[in-house]
Amino acid sequence: MKVPFYGHVRQYQSIKSEIDANMQEVILSGQYVQGPRLKRFEEELAAYAGVKYAIGVGNGTDALWLTFMALGLGSGDELITNANTFFATAEAMWIAGCTSVLVDCDQKTRCIDPEAVKKAITKRTKAIVPVHLYGQCAPMREIRKIADDYGLFVVEDNAQAIDAHGDNFKVGELSDAVCTSFIIQKNLGTFGDGGAIWTNHQYINDKVRKLRNHGSNKRDVHSMGYNSRLDDLHAAILSAKLKHIKEWSGRRIEIAGRYTEGLKGCDFLDLPYVRPGYRHVFHLYVIETKDPADRDKMLDYLVKNGIDAKTHYSIAIHKQEGFPWGKDARVVSPLTHAEKNASSCISLPMFSELTEEEIQHTIRVVRDWPNRRNDK
Ligand SMILES: Cc1ncc(COP(=O)(O)O)c(C=O)c1O
Repeated sequence: MKVPFYGHVRQYQSIKSEIDANMQEVILSGQYVQGPRLKRFEEELAAYAGVKYAIGVGNGTDALWLTFMALGLGSGDELITNANTFFATAEAMWIAGCTSVLVDCDQKTRCIDPEAVKKAITKRTKAIVPVHLYGQCAPMREIRKIADDYGLFVVEDNAQAIDAHGDNFKVGELSDAVCTSFIIQKNLGTFGDGGAIWTNHQYINDKVRKLRNHGSNKRDVHSMGYNSRLDDLHAAILSAKLKHIKEWSGRRIEIAGRYTEGLKGCDFLDLPYVRPGYRHVFHLYVIETKDPADRDKMLDYLVKNGIDAKTHYSIAIHKQEGFPWGKDARVVSPLTHAEKNASSCISLPMFSELTEEEIQHTIRVVRDWPNRRNDK
């Protein structure tokens, strides 16, 4: 049996008529860029997130750096995030001309460690960028407190956690802006690339709307900007999918529960940790081998046995080529937990259309690893 990592086509088939109808409407409207469907999706997204403004952009990376620019951040400004996030979090800082400061993550959740953030603050620090890694919110109350104490912006990287919340806090409630990605593999994904920013600040909304459209909010009048818009076709697809997001995250949570139950007692693994009261939406279900030396062997074994497992992310940002990109990045050591995460993580298949049979098969194959580790 083969268990795929992604279920994009299965998901499309489950709501095909809704997506097709929305796409047809856009195609026949003749309005494809900054048209009525984008406006409608932005309103739906803002209502869903419980904020005043949502702005669709080209992708999640643009969402981040356009937000940094809208906040007036640039050369000489330091932005803090964790070293074990997707590369784009730091890349967006570099694009905006800022310096990324990489700190350690928490030993259990793998989200940013507030104590490490405090140690990284200098006179040049301007913002903290917590990532809601794998689908679980970063500890936003602690982050908010640090930001208040030091007068810093907070921008949430929510690319992996749409529909998550913390213990009595919502995404967006304790920050200046939230950035998200709609690339197909995300929990809310379009057939291609997409992204959005949501915020309660009118100045961020106004600035990003201009920046994404060649610095223009009036025909023929421009200041410097870029071209990063969410196309109406993508907005129409996302509108159809947004209606199902709660049900899909519910199913992800259920599947995560099955994995956790089924893998109980595997003393060669660490399983995901969910903070009490948090809604972890399991964009990824990431296990870690207790011994980092086992990771590549186990990954190999899983793939050979039909389980399309992957790694997120096997190379921490400060170990990527060219780091620190001139002087545009630095680390605040130690990065013990971020490095352990990179060297031992394995993501098991996780999407809401996984079948019971696929889940149980994956559990069986993982559990059998100690008996089969020496298979040729
Ligand atoms: C944590 C995180 N930040 C940023 C991004 C960038 O989003 P995009 O690929 O849409 O540019 C991604 C994913 O791709 C991500 O996982």
